[in-house]
This record gives sequence, C-alpha cells and structure tokens, in this order.
Amino acid sequence: MAVDKEKLPVHIGFIMDGNGRWAVKRGLPRKMGHREGAKAFRKIARYCKTIGIKYITFYAFSTENWKRPKDEVDEIMRLFGEYLNEADDFKKDKTRIIFLGDKSAFSEDLRTRMEEIERDSAVFDEMTMLLAMNYGGRDEIVRAAKTAAEMVLEKDIKPSDINESLISSLLYTGGIPDADLIIRPSGEKRISNFLTWQSAYSELYFTDVLWPDFTAKELDKALEDYASRSRRFGGV
Ligand code: FPP
Repeated sequence: MAVDKEKLPVHIGFIMDGNGRWAVKRGLPRKMGHREGAKAFRKIARYCKTIGIKYITFYAFSTENWKRPKDEVDEIMRLFGEYLNEADDFKKDKTRIIFLGDKSAFSEDLRTRMEEIERDSAVFDEMTMLLAMNYGGRDEIVRAAKTAAEMVLEKDIKPSDINESLISSLLYTGGIPDADLIIRPSGEKRISNFLTWQSAYSELYFTDVLWPDFTAKELDKALEDYASRSRRFGGV
C-alpha cells in the first residue's frame, strides 16, 4: 500500500454490491454470489486492519432486502450466522464489532449472538467494524428523532437542546466518527440509504468491479484516489 498513513481515511464505508450479477455472469444461482461476497468481506476487513484503518462499515443487509426471494434472504442469513459463529476471530483480531440496524427482525439465536459479540468485543479499540444488518439510513434518523421527542416529553431536554450533536449521538453509530470515504463497487452510483446522516461530507468512490472481485489492490486504488482529494467541509 503506497498511500501515506496520514492521508488514510479514519472511517471507510463499503456498499457490498454486485454479488447477484457476479453469479449470474457465471451461470450460477445468485446465492453463490453472496457466498463469494462474504469471502471478499472477510479479506477486505482483514486488509483494513493490516493497514491501520480505525473504523470500517459494511452494508450487508438493508431494511428493503427482505423483499428478495426467500432462498436468497435465507442464504444471506446463513452466511451471517456462519460469520457470527467464528466467535474467536474478533478476539484474535482485537476488533470491536457493532451492528447497525434493527435487531428485532432477526431470529432469537442471531440476536442473542449479536448482543454477545457486541458486549464481548467492546474491550477492543484497535479497529471497530460496523456491520449494517437490517439497516436503513432514514429509519435510523427517524428513530433518533423519536428518542429525542421522548427525552423532551420526559423533560430530560428542551426542544432547543436538539442539535446535530444530539441527533448524531442517538444514531446507531453514536460516538463513531462520520464516514470519510464510501466505496461502492458494481457500477451503481448512488448511496441507497446507507449512512445517510454520516455521509454528509464523505468522499465517494465508485468502481465497476463487482463486490466479489473487490480485492486489496482495488482498495489501494480507492485509497490513492482519496489521498489526492482536497476535503474542505464547506470551507475554502
Ligand atoms: C448486494 O448485492 C448484496 C447484498 C444485498 C448482500 C450482501 C451480503 C453479503 C456479502 C453476505 C453477508 C454476510 C456477512 C458475513 C455479513 P446484490 O445482490 O444486490 O447484487 P446485484 O446488484 O448484482 O444483484
């Protein structure tokens, strides 16, 4: 990796898109694409750790993805469960894991496991991995707004205390810095309800490579591109 450490993003978000097309191109069922996608996810997470990225977020399942055929949803849940069962990996990797999204939609088994992993990995601070599962950016903002409204009703705060920093703190990502760079492979050029609030000033990187083919080398290209950008956050 040729990029100067100083110019690396602190937080990278990945939209893991193109799994279905990867499989269809090979005459395989779409779920095979998700299997390959899950492998790419593991490799990229490990590589980010190696090069010293502090926060990584992967969009694995959106609030809209339930509309997909049942066998596809079942396969994604199976892959997710398989990942959750690699219990010792995050300890070995000293990685904190946080799940973004509404956990209530998952089976009791998955939910319990997610909560255990969040609790047990909270001691690690070398890298934090956020996995967006049953996540929607607008849904996240609505939830934060409802919590703020309840705080007003309970007289914990006044309406005038509602500001950007309060809303930020009430998101699933409360306490995590906003995304510096969002990478979307597969040729689509949109954000699709991912980190809606947290991407206000993110740099965006799009590539035609499909997610299962997204390698460390592809990430290096994105990082080089990011390092060459000038971020002004509305200033000059
Ligand atoms: C988008 O590609 C991908 C998804 C909706 C699922 C991503 C899930 C995984 C990579 C596996 C999840 C597992 C873990 C370990 C978290 P697409 O199917 O929309 O691709 P297409 O646009 O080519 O159809």
